[in-house]
Amino acid sequence: MSGYGIVPEYIWEFIMPSVISVANLNKTYASGFQALKNINLDIRRGEIFALLGPNGAGKTTLISIICGLVNPSSGTVLADGHDIIRNYRQARSKIGLVPQELTTDAFETVWATVSFSRGLFGKPPNPAHIEKTLRALSLWNKKDNKLITLSGGMKRRVLIAKALSHEPQILFLDEPTAGVDVSLRKEMWQVVRSLRDTGVTIILTTHYIEEAEEMADRVGVINNGEIILVEEKNVLMHKLGKKQLKLQLAQPLASIPPCLAVYQLTLTPEGDELVYTYDTQRQHNDITALFSDLNQAGIRFIDLKTTQTSLEEIFVKLVRKPS
Ligand SMILES: Nc1ncnc2c1ncn2[C@@H]1O[C@H](COP(=O)(O)OP(=O)(O)O)[C@@H](O)[C@H]1O
Ligand SMILES: [Mg+2]
Repeated sequence: MSGYGIVPEYIWEFIMPSVISVANLNKTYASGFQALKNINLDIRRGEIFALLGPNGAGKTTLISIICGLVNPSSGTVLADGHDIIRNYRQARSKIGLVPQELTTDAFETVWATVSFSRGLFGKPPNPAHIEKTLRALSLWNKKDNKLITLSGGMKRRVLIAKALSHEPQILFLDEPTAGVDVSLRKEMWQVVRSLRDTGVTIILTTHYIEEAEEMADRVGVINNGEIILVEEKNVLMHKLGKKQLKLQLAQPLASIPPCLAVYQLTLTPEGDELVYTYDTQRQHNDITALFSDLNQAGIRFIDLKTTQTSLEEIFVKLVRKPS
């Protein structure tokens, strides 16, 4: 049920695409440290949203507030229309959380620990759902194993199964691949994608740019408790991800011939290198045309190289402290 009883769920989803809505959220810890500064953020139903930021940026604080584990100092959070404080139980029932710190009861079986998690939400047993979840996470044949016997990757998948045990629509993963090896990271990415395909909205935090670049539909960058940018990943790459083609000239040029003006080239002060900047989504035709026009203008080059701004560089630029 939605937060507004008379509106059917399917209409609610249509008029209310945000599944999480954070408004004017602030958090100052008892120590006096302000960990979150006026956060405004909307998460769209069905997306994978990556909250990207360096250690200490406030990622865990933000998702702990949304999940009801930490009290906000001011501001509001709605989870599927339910206020996380006034309607705590309804809001919390919509959310699954895979915490940053991994703790499991080593001597429980997979089946018992996942079923128990469901009970914590006051939901009646639903073995069919637990089975479906375990199968989706490739844990079905381990259901009777004690956790202590499982590999690191399987333990992580058990934590996801626990978080999904009460059938939440929204799944938070706090640093799902921090400190894991490359193959396990790839496995986790696959698991997360397949969960999204089942309709679950996914919010993951990460300090790995590669993870955001690989996984996210949208990326929010957080630094020093502030959201400094929220953007479709592709748009972000398109807007900020520039490629440069550098042409080392056979003969230095005094200036760029007017016939090449459309390319907005730049010339190094020495006049020996032409630089063409283009966005990564652009067609290669432009480069073919440039080469042809250079040829026509009688400009020869002896070497060329291309460089690309990745999300990595974009991120470093964004979070760099103003000097
Ligand atoms: N309980 C707390 N009391 C005081 N400061 C805290 C507490 N928890 C976190 N912080 C501080 O808040 C900032 C953000 O922490 P956190 O949300 O864990 O960041 P992240 O998850 O992005 O690494 C850090 O500077 C951290 O030291
Ligand atoms: Mg954290």
